[in-house]
Amino acid sequence: MTAQETWHALTRGRGALITAAILCALIFLATATLVLTLPEQEQTPRGLPQLAHTHDIELGVAVAVNPLVNDNQYRSVVTEHYTSVTAENTMKWVNVQPQRHTFDWSGPDTIVGFAERNGLDVHGHTLLWHNQLPAWLAQGSWTPDELHQVMREHMQALMGRYQGRVTSWDVINEPFQDTGPRLRQNLWYQVLGEDYIAQALTMAHQIDPQAKLYINEFGIEGGGPKTDALHRLATHLLDQGVPLHGIGFQGHFIQGNVPENMAQQMRRFTDLGLEVSLSELDIRIPEPVDETDLQQQAHEYEQAIQACLEVPECVRVSVWGVSDQHSWIPEWFPGYTAALPFDDSYTPKPALDGMTTALSRTPSNRRPHQPHPTH
Ligand code: G3I
Repeated sequence: MTAQETWHALTRGRGALITAAILCALIFLATATLVLTLPEQEQTPRGLPQLAHTHDIELGVAVAVNPLVNDNQYRSVVTEHYTSVTAENTMKWVNVQPQRHTFDWSGPDTIVGFAERNGLDVHGHTLLWHNQLPAWLAQGSWTPDELHQVMREHMQALMGRYQGRVTSWDVINEPFQDTGPRLRQNLWYQVLGEDYIAQALTMAHQIDPQAKLYINEFGIEGGGPKTDALHRLATHLLDQGVPLHGIGFQGHFIQGNVPENMAQQMRRFTDLGLEVSLSELDIRIPEPVDETDLQQQAHEYEQAIQACLEVPECVRVSVWGVSDQHSWIPEWFPGYTAALPFDDSYTPKPALDGMTTALSRTPSNRRPHQPHPTH
């Protein structure tokens, strides 16, 4: 090849290089322009777990064992949209200890194992409740010492098995009468008196000193005599040095009745040094359900989550079920339905957009959570 031919070959090569560089630059510019002109949300699509993380809260869901084992779609909804799970039924007394000293860990192990494999937090539900007790316990005749022993055995077995893996527990569930303000005359109250609450919390703390211990209650979200009574109880327990760390606001609402002052009610408890959660959120709609209802429900999901975000010590919002197909509502409230963010076929409802809207707001300066007092 002559010097002239070599020169031409080189310049042709350089021309190709320059053309390629210009093309790359154009592609880059076009992409950048496209990205910059998209709405902010589409630019950085983030799922609910990532959004929840920016607010330093857990976004939880109540799960049942059967669909968790058998239904792919069910599992996907949980892992793609939530950061935490609560066992809807399988950690309750009747399932865990159906006969005295006979424990069934199959359900709890399934849920805790699933959570661990998928990096989800687990909230424990529940230790002392008046419902879903096995017959041997509910119909037994107990002296205070005997019942104390029964409590210790059960709590030791359940909390002990998942120590360090289940990080918070509803130690006391629904201690007040349905419409308050008196304490519920449940088995524990009848045998041990009002002090059963302090005894159970103290026992739970001895078993797992790191776990956050909750009282979980319904009908307290908008204030009133029941909320006042729970506030007096919490104050009294804390004054006595009882290890109580949180209050669960269950949040079973009827559409149109989500209270506007929920953040204010939560703050009454966080002012005592407690954390709070919205622990069993659902918003049921009277049948028949139309698009307007679903839009209003979306707004109310947004409002409920917003309330938690306004309270720095509100650490978790959990919805009570994966889809409308699994909700407790139709069985318990005939004529009401569609209470959850996913419909019967796992299609997201406007309620899911409501949750996203609340969580997409710029995080406020949520204070770092106080370490719970050790007693
Ligand atoms: O276990 C039986 C099963 O053997 C039987 O085949 C089947 C037939 O219907 O029923 C099963 O029992 C059901 C049980 O859940 C377990 O799935 C009961 O019918 C059903 O009434 C029971 O309802 C649960 C309810 O607690 C019991 O009080 C709901 O699923 C559960 O969502 C609900 O959860 C409570 C929270 O723990 C506390 N706060 C209120 C919330 C709603 O009630």
